Amino acid sequence: MAKVDVLLGLQWGDEGKGKIVDVLAPKYDVVARFQGGPNAGHTLEFDGIKHVLHQIPSGIFRERTKNIIGNGVVLDPVIFKAEIESLKKFNLNVVENLFISKKASLIIPTHRLLDQAYEAAKGESKIGSTLKGIGPTYQDKIGRQGLRVGDVLSDKFNDKFKRLSEIHFGILQNLGFEFKWSELEAQFLDAINFLKQFKLVESEYLINHELQQGSTILAEGAQGSLLDIDFGSYPFVTSSNTVTAGACTGLGIAPRHIGEVYGIFKAYSTRVGGGPFPTELLNEDGELMRKQGNEFGSTTGRPRRCGWIDIPSLKYSIMINGVTRLLMMKVDVLSVFPKIKVCTKYQLKDGTVTTALPYELVNEKITPIYEEFKGWQTSVTGNSLTDLPVELIQYVEFLERELEVPITLISTGPDRLQTIFRPLSAV
Ligand code: GDP
Ligand code: IMO
Ligand code: MG
Repeated sequence: MAKVDVLLGLQWGDEGKGKIVDVLAPKYDVVARFQGGPNAGHTLEFDGIKHVLHQIPSGIFRERTKNIIGNGVVLDPVIFKAEIESLKKFNLNVVENLFISKKASLIIPTHRLLDQAYEAAKGESKIGSTLKGIGPTYQDKIGRQGLRVGDVLSDKFNDKFKRLSEIHFGILQNLGFEFKWSELEAQFLDAINFLKQFKLVESEYLINHELQQGSTILAEGAQGSLLDIDFGSYPFVTSSNTVTAGACTGLGIAPRHIGEVYGIFKAYSTRVGGGPFPTELLNEDGELMRKQGNEFGSTTGRPRRCGWIDIPSLKYSIMINGVTRLLMMKVDVLSVFPKIKVCTKYQLKDGTVTTALPYELVNEKITPIYEEFKGWQTSVTGNSLTDLPVELIQYVEFLERELEVPITLISTGPDRLQTIFRPLSAV
């Protein structure tokens, strides 16, 4: 039987998952999203086109790839409709190539409002949510009162929707949150009608059938491991399991069917929203990284916080996910730096030096301990391994030794073609 490969972010999201899923998609019969929702923004660039996907898997531009939105996803039908409409100009056969799990959770308009109201109530300690309703929707899923995609086929759907909205109205009223409902409701019901033309399926059967047929399958993670609800810097996290195990529960595949685990990371670190970030640079180096890397959120446009690469947190992500191959992104962004720093250890408040991620990340300051490397200071934007400057290769090899997993892909720019495959023989 075939295996499901998983590709997921090892940092705080935005590692370049969309680009690489699109690059790898021709090798796969199926690409499937297993968690998250419209909080994700996955950017693809090819033929001079730049496109951002939020809920639709990044295999959608490859004609013969089936794309599945799995049961672990929270789907906003309004955003989904807008996404489908923005794909029209590409003349893709989306209705044919997209399969949506009936068991995926539905984001209703009040989930978005609740997200806003909860964040406002948190004041200074807000999470920095994308305000897409992710947390409230997963709350209702776990609270066993949510709506699912399959419910739209029932003639009781409008009643169910009304009942859940009314529960939310009560909470919003208590929080003193004001809003206009009629427009939001009309927009939602229109988007629900739109959704009905798509293949709403029991995707766990579909995917296991594909496995039995020997199809190749890639599970596309959203967010990053350091935003995982269990293993991330709680409470500054998202509300789903972003790690490999999430692909099992979010698609209905057994652990023994997992094949390669591709861990994707930037040559530096970024984070958007609140929460601890040990290597954050609050100086001109951080500004330069943001400018060079165009580090502004794909979903919200917010400036991303930037800093040096962080080995202890990467090693933690590799451990939790069982990463078998590393993919290193955005090396071109570091070309302007004469010196490149790598955090190899942390010093804790009591003076202890450690390579482990401490429990108390949020309230206690961690001081990163760095090793310094000479920068390459020459432009790298191509796709030839042999053209890479020696200092960059030394940086890659150092990371590989520290992380103990081979780096099999190096990305030198946002375009599909700016991708270097590094054969295991070169490692
Ligand atoms: P995702 O959420 O993991 O899919 O990542 P995003 O799309 O949110 O953010 C990654 C950003 O970096 C996008 O704007 C990509 O076009 C861009 N990008 C991806 N790979 C590279 C690279 O190697 N170099 C540069 N300069 N940009 C890249
Ligand atoms: P992709 O898939 C980066 C962050 C938010 C916030 C926290 C919780 O593009 O990598 P949420 O809306 O989930 O309640 O927000 O998680 N966040 C992301 N950061 N990339 C993402 O997705 C993110 N999705 C959520 O900024 O700090
Ligand atoms: Mg993103």
